[in-house]
Amino acid sequence: MLKSVLKEAAGAGAREILRFFNKSFTVSNKEGVNNLVTEADHAAEKAIIEVIHRHYPDHQVLGEESGASNGTSSIKWIVDPIDGTVNFAHGIPLNCVSIAIEEKGVIIMAAVLNPHLNEYFFAEKGKGAFLNDQPIQVSNETNAINACLVTGFPYTYINMPNGPLEIFERFVRKGVPVRRLGSAAIDLCWVACGRFDGFYEHKLEPWDSAAGYLIVEEAGGRVTDHEGQPFSVYQHKVLATNGKIHDEMVEVINNRKEL
Ligand code: IPD
Ligand code: CA
Ligand code: CA
Repeated sequence: MLKSVLKEAAGAGAREILRFFNKSFTVSNKEGVNNLVTEADHAAEKAIIEVIHRHYPDHQVLGEESGASNGTSSIKWIVDPIDGTVNFAHGIPLNCVSIAIEEKGVIIMAAVLNPHLNEYFFAEKGKGAFLNDQPIQVSNETNAINACLVTGFPYTYINMPNGPLEIFERFVRKGVPVRRLGSAAIDLCWVACGRFDGFYEHKLEPWDSAAGYLIVEEAGGRVTDHEGQPFSVYQHKVLATNGKIHDEMVEVINNRKEL
């Protein structure tokens, strides 16, 4: 039941994305010059929450656009109605609905739907990860120097040792391809299905990372903070890999090893 409601909710959000994609919609700014929110983000979140609450009126929801709603249940839905809003606003078909279900602090189910590519990623804790119902697995690459990586940059630049550009430079100077797609949820899912070997980012929020985190773990990958410590969706720094290059990535990210 939870699984089918999750799919229904993701589908409802995706319908709103497609209804507005490449059409006219209102755009406004959040904190940070290019941190956009569009009419479609609000419409998609509303449609997703309507599905959740129609089936489960007592469930809690944490939505990027509407914030936290209380409920008496121990289940919380973590919703990003459009992950990749800047892509969406520019007509770039790399954006998705991302929804995770948390029970007593543990992410138990997750879905990421990119309606433009028709890709539905799904995972259930302990039961594997799937792309359009086919099981998926992380890649087998064992050396970071041979890896294909992906990252993202925050809307407001973070100036710090081992900051986003420093780490990017460390890999790029060695010729390692580091892509930047603009949707953390898609980045994580593409690690899960082996298209990328690793992903790191500095300032993600729970709605960006929660679904992709479970999908990577259930596909056999590893997700931690930048020090290799256990990951919580409520912290900002994320490192997700196929597991085989994870320790090496931690060393490079912290500038303790040159590639
Ligand atoms: C953003 C995307 C992007 C990441 C940003 C996120 P949004 O989410 O996931 O890839 O770099 O940090 O905020 O704003 O498109 O939902
Ligand atoms: Ca997001
Ligand atoms: Ca969003």
